Amino acid sequence: MLARTLSKALRPAAGRPPALALARAASAPAARGFSEMASPQKFAIYRYDPDTQAKPFLQEYTIVAGLRSCGPMILDALIKVKDEVDPTLTFRRSCREGICGSCAMNINGKNGLACLLYIEPGPAPIEIQPLPHTYVVKDLVPDLTNFYNQYKSIEPWLKRKDTKAKGEKEYFQSREDRAKLDGMYECILCACCMTSCPSYWWNPEYYLGPAVLMQAYRWIADSRDQFTEERLAWVNDTMKLYRCHGIMNCTNCCPKGLDPAKAIVHLKEEVADTYKDAWKGMMTEQIVKNKGRESGMMYM
Ligand code: SF4
Ligand code: SF4
Ligand code: FES
Repeated sequence: MLARTLSKALRPAAGRPPALALARAASAPAARGFSEMASPQKFAIYRYDPDTQAKPFLQEYTIVAGLRSCGPMILDALIKVKDEVDPTLTFRRSCREGICGSCAMNINGKNGLACLLYIEPGPAPIEIQPLPHTYVVKDLVPDLTNFYNQYKSIEPWLKRKDTKAKGEKEYFQSREDRAKLDGMYECILCACCMTSCPSYWWNPEYYLGPAVLMQAYRWIADSRDQFTEERLAWVNDTMKLYRCHGIMNCTNCCPKGLDPAKAIVHLKEEVADTYKDAWKGMMTEQIVKNKGRESGMMYM
């Protein structure tokens, strides 16, 4: 373990949109005392270097000047370490506003977004690890290729059998139908839920996982989409859908407050209510028709 020293002051937190500021206020810890803010704070951060391929380890860093010298979020601490102490520390981030999903990681045992989680001062080091059960590219950067391929497999775009000519009006949707997408379209694909799901840990190649299944249902529930039956037939599979056992880890950790477990329940209900024996033939037809297309209908 290597203790590092930090001392320079960092930029103050920039202004934030009111909605996010409210969200942060809701999850903010109780007001911190001056002594807590002035005390050194330790962080134990997962390190893995693909060049040496040495065994991963937790490296300890200390913000010696205390949290007054650092922004309030976990991401601020990571940026401070990278900027001022150890430029080799590697992590993803982009928006620092809980929108891009790239700073998803495991903080003190729970998945979340580093930019939305406050540093909770204390004597024990704050442990920061990459998303669990993922292959690690470097340090806190997980390989999400499997997740993105699974997302691609559900064809996450509007599919129509009759299409309008260019210049014609858009496909209308009633307010009620639009409201059915609330709680699903907001997903930022951060993969916090996927990598907290025990079923996904055991079967990542076959089980689609909570975020992908919620997005599958997002298109099934969309009144403008005309491939509802094909989409239902596509997910009606022991491994793709029915590995979900309602453990709820996904919903418990979603940093956007979404409920993928509930979406999966609705998806299962819709499959049960609409199932037809003809689905198998319909899927075979889709696969033959879409041969060569690098997307969902070719994975079976
Ligand atoms: S459902 Fe929530 S946790 Fe899962 S990918 Fe979407 S935003 Fe992230
Ligand atoms: S409810 Fe389903 S998707 Fe969510 S964590 Fe449990 S098994 Fe995984
Ligand atoms: S940096 Fe974009 S969600 Fe955290």
